[in-house]
Amino acid sequence: MTALPTAAHPSAEPGHASFDRMWAELAPVGRHPGTGGYRRFAWTTQDATLREWFAGEAARRGLDVVTDRVGNLWAWRGDPDVAVAAGTPGLVLGSHLDSVPDGGAFDGPLGVVSSFAALDQLDAAGFRSARPLGIACFGDEEGARFGIACAGSRLLTGAMTAERGLALTDADGTTMADAMRSAGRDPAGVGRDDETLRRIGTFLELHVEQGRALGDPGHPADGPVAVGSSIWPHGRWRFDLTGRADHAGTTRLEDRHDPMLIAAEVIQQARAAAQSHGCVATVGKLRVLPNGVNAIPSMVQTWLDARGADARAVRNTVSHLAGTVGRTAIEESWTDATDFDAPLVRRLSELLGGAPVLATGAGHDAGILATAGVRTGMLFVRNPTGISHSPEEHAETDDCHAGVDALVRVVHSLAGEDA
Ligand code: HGY
Ligand code: MN
Ligand code: MN
Repeated sequence: MTALPTAAHPSAEPGHASFDRMWAELAPVGRHPGTGGYRRFAWTTQDATLREWFAGEAARRGLDVVTDRVGNLWAWRGDPDVAVAAGTPGLVLGSHLDSVPDGGAFDGPLGVVSSFAALDQLDAAGFRSARPLGIACFGDEEGARFGIACAGSRLLTGAMTAERGLALTDADGTTMADAMRSAGRDPAGVGRDDETLRRIGTFLELHVEQGRALGDPGHPADGPVAVGSSIWPHGRWRFDLTGRADHAGTTRLEDRHDPMLIAAEVIQQARAAAQSHGCVATVGKLRVLPNGVNAIPSMVQTWLDARGADARAVRNTVSHLAGTVGRTAIEESWTDATDFDAPLVRRLSELLGGAPVLATGAGHDAGILATAGVRTGMLFVRNPTGISHSPEEHAETDDCHAGVDALVRVVHSLAGEDA
């Protein structure tokens, strides 16, 4: 039995030191010098750099890196297939390395870096695992390039078909299939990957908290680490608002067919509809054609993200909005409410000294795996401001180290148990 970190006996340094080293190494990758935000999009050169970094970190620890049918990366210690045959599938940690446009440093990378760091801390303590340990890096979690969040885990589990995923296009019209080809990956094998899924006995994703539940002083859920209980139902919709392109100077106001006016209505009414149904709704992306200062648009595509605790209320928000503006909301994705494995949630909280248990409005690969029947849990690291999907996203280093310690504690307990 190896020593566990306790308050009286602070964590072994190696995991914290390696966390700091990896964090510093990743900091410049894909960081925009002007905004300070990260632009790490699927199947780009930044993505390739991040994938190489992941493979390098796996190699320095002697882990075997496997790419699944979809392109997600899995670093394994121990043979996961032998373990599947023996009825002891692996314990997998991890998260993602891609970002939203001008995202923060923590959303995704915190989970991947903490997983490697936890392994270092366990190794330094001489821990021997009773089952294979894996670290996963999911591709295209944010859907920033092709529009569907958690694309890597949706394709892996079959929640999104290969046909649909590969045909998605980015803003330049490049398909996901072509983007994969350009990155040196053959899209022919993309599809649900049962061999990979079988290897995951338990998946645990550590993530930066994306609200202020742990950050507000005096909030009952205080502390550096919380356990995730559930994910709100959420979805993305698109309004294709068509009009007629025309001259901005010579077209009389009464002669115009200007879809930007409808887009403005969608934006205003989205908030009103969300408020009346107790949900949240966001218009964060527009595509304007032809996008000229002196041209009335011919089309404005308007994307809506809507979420809430209750699925029916979210859907009512969208249909209420569509009715108000008299336009069709085209559903691009829908994710039902996800409840993480309840006994696992309780156990994680107990293991972490009664850590608070939180629901979240953010989507995660962990949610997609849970829906596919994988035993899944999440840990959240305190975010003092709650700001996320922003260059201002932040977590204190001590809290990140507490996250590493939490993973150490959890691996210690779960990797020794019977499946
Ligand atoms: O959009 C989301 O909730 C997530 O960060 N993918
Ligand atoms: Mn995110
Ligand atoms: Mn994330």
